[in-house]
Amino acid sequence: MSNIDLNLSHLDELNRTTAIVTGAAGGIGGEIVRLLVANGSNVVMADLAHCENDANSLIASLPHPTRAHFVPTNITKWDQITTLFRTAKDKFGSVEVVIANAGVMEKSPILDVEKVDQHGNLAEDNEFSKVIDINIKGTMNTLRQAIFHMKDNKPTFSDGSRGSILLVSSTSGYFGGTGVTGYITSKHGVTGMLRGSQLAASKHLLRINAVAPFVTPTAMSSGFATAWKKSGLPMNTMEAVARVIAVLAADPLRRGSCYLTCGPIIREVETSQKSLMGEWLGNDFVELMASASRFFADQGGYTLPKLIALDSSDTTGDRAK
Ligand SMILES: NC(=O)c1ccc[n+]([C@@H]2O[C@H](COP(=O)([O-])OP(=O)(O)OC[C@H]3O[C@@H](n4cnc5c(N)ncnc54)[C@H](O)[C@@H]3O)[C@@H](O)[C@H]2O)c1
Repeated sequence: MSNIDLNLSHLDELNRTTAIVTGAAGGIGGEIVRLLVANGSNVVMADLAHCENDANSLIASLPHPTRAHFVPTNITKWDQITTLFRTAKDKFGSVEVVIANAGVMEKSPILDVEKVDQHGNLAEDNEFSKVIDINIKGTMNTLRQAIFHMKDNKPTFSDGSRGSILLVSSTSGYFGGTGVTGYITSKHGVTGMLRGSQLAASKHLLRINAVAPFVTPTAMSSGFATAWKKSGLPMNTMEAVARVIAVLAADPLRRGSCYLTCGPIIREVETSQKSLMGEWLGNDFVELMASASRFFADQGGYTLPKLIALDSSDTTGDRAK
C-alpha cells in the first residue's frame, strides 16, 4: 500500500471560501483555522463558550484577523449549531467548507466494573453517553447543517462540487486496541457516518471525506505524551494533521475517502479497502453487495420501517414497569 503524497496545490481551491471549523479554539482545530486563513478562507470558529478567550487570542495572532470569527457553540445543541451556520452566512455570505473536528474522550474507563453503589450493584456509567453525544450526535448535527446550508451553493470547486465536508475521525475509528471503549465506539460511529453519507453527498454534489489521526500532542493525549515521546514511536504534529485535513477537504477528486495519519505514514483506508474486498470477503460477496446496491437504487432508496417503538415518546421501556 503506497503512502499518500499530499498535493499542497489543492489548497488553492480554498481561496475565497468560507469554512466552519468546530472545536476550533485550540489543538488540531486551532491549527486548521491558521492554515485555512493562510490559504485565503474566511473561517467561522465554533467551540464551547468557555473557550472564548483562547479563540480570540488565536484570532488576534492571525495575519488577517478579520477573516476569522468565533461563535460560542455546543455542537450537541441544535439551536446553537443552527445559530452557528446562520451567523457564518450572515457574516461572510455563504459556507463552502465544514470541518467537523470537535471531539472528546472519556475521563474514566467505561468498562470499569469495580464501582458499585451502597447495595453492591454496579454503578451506572455517565461518561459513555457524553462521549457519544458529542462525538456522534454533535458530528451528525454538524453534518446535517452542512448539507442543508451548502446544497444550494453554486459550483465552488474545480470539479463542480458545491461544498466539502471533512469529518475528523481517529485511528480509533478503525481499531480498538487502546480499550478506550466510549471513544472507540464513537469514532467507529464517525466512520459509519462517512460511509452512510455518501449517497446524500452525491445527490447534493457535495464531497464528504474523513481524516483518522493517530496520536497527536494535544490536550487529549496529554496524559501519556511524555512517555510516548520517550518510546520513540512516531507521533503526529498538530500542524501536520491540520495540513492533511485541509488538503483532503480541498482535493476535488476525493469522495468518501479517509486518510489514516500516523506521523510520516498517511494511508487511504476507505477506497483502498473497497478495492481489496474480493480478496478479503470473496468475489461472490462483492457481487451480492453490488446487486443489493442496484436493488436499493431501483427502489429509490432503502424503504424505512414504521417502528412503533420509535413513534413512542417512551423509548426507555419505563412504561412497562
Ligand atoms: N489528539 C489526538 O491524539 C487525536 C487522535 C485522533 C483523533 N483526534 C481527534 O481530533 C479532534 C480534535 O481533537 P484534539 O486532539 O485537537 O483535542 P482538543 O481537546 O485539543 O480539542 C477538542 C476541541 O473540541 C472542543 N469541544 C469539545 N466538546 C465540544 C462541543 N460539545 N461543542 C463544541 N466544541 C467542543 C473542545 O473545547 C476543544 O477545543 C477530535 O475529534 C479528536 O477525537 C485526536
